[in-house]
Amino acid sequence: MAKASAPGKLILFGEHFVVYGMPAIAAAVEGRTVAEVVRADSYSLVDERPETPGYKAEKRGQQEESIGLMFKAMRLDRSKAGIRLGGDLVAASGVGASGASCAAIAAAANAEFGLGLDREGINRIAYEGEKGYHGTPSGIDNSCSTYGGFILFKRGASGAKSEIAPMASVAKPAIVVGNSGITSDTTKVVGEVRQLMEGDPERFKRMANEYVEISKKAKAALENNGIPEIGELMNRNHALLRDIGVSCRELEEMVEAALGAGAAGAKLTGTGRGGLMIALVTEDAKEKVASAIGRKGYKAEITGIGAEGVKVLR
Ligand code: MEV
Repeated sequence: MAKASAPGKLILFGEHFVVYGMPAIAAAVEGRTVAEVVRADSYSLVDERPETPGYKAEKRGQQEESIGLMFKAMRLDRSKAGIRLGGDLVAASGVGASGASCAAIAAAANAEFGLGLDREGINRIAYEGEKGYHGTPSGIDNSCSTYGGFILFKRGASGAKSEIAPMASVAKPAIVVGNSGITSDTTKVVGEVRQLMEGDPERFKRMANEYVEISKKAKAALENNGIPEIGELMNRNHALLRDIGVSCRELEEMVEAALGAGAAGAKLTGTGRGGLMIALVTEDAKEKVASAIGRKGYKAEITGIGAEGVKVLR
């Protein structure tokens, strides 16, 4: 039996825009998914990850497809493997739960079946797995779970390799994560953003230009530990995400509560239309911000970011 763990991720800047080749910044969170893979006489999948209620049942079909795609890419017979998933990462939309489980399964299968894949190879397999969850993933989620820390990610155009640059010596602020409790469908939401983009390319171009400016400033601010500036840029990024139609009442309520309680900045993270919201907080404000979100009826959690990427556990 081989065991591996991988962290979830939070997109600090650039969800959706990353699909169109714009640079995005993501950070690995402290919560991890653990995958055990064992040689067996028949296939089994036991999923013991903690979850936002309903998440696992809703994603089960996609999960089976994802595992099938990964085993095919590894040229392994899935009917000869038992898989068990656990760990402390709460499976929810927005935290890269699928990317983390793909990276952990790929690393554990690599160890169990002696495939000799390096980190890049594991990331390639995890990316194949992500396709089971949403047809055309940018690859940012699995890359963040695989490499960990903070990454600057730029999707390669039409099949070209994506750029994945680790960001060194960045600020490691605390983040409050607010959970809307709604599981979102990435394929559907990404498809609707595409419709908007194709329906009004000029408007989309204006928003994209503004996002690119935000992303450049965000990289510099993160590298220079400029918390107020990072927060301000998160607010601007959230306004753009609202404009492209991926926010919702629950996310807006949490953003407002977080800012009202002293967060330096707040935005939705990941797919949107449910899922998670993140607020950038100083040590003094973190409990206050988490309580303000809690008072609105949502679950809030304080997490550090910049955690280690996928690793095999002995
Ligand atoms: C999902 O975590 C992030 C999106 O940008 C989709 C993707 O990058 O594949 C919405």
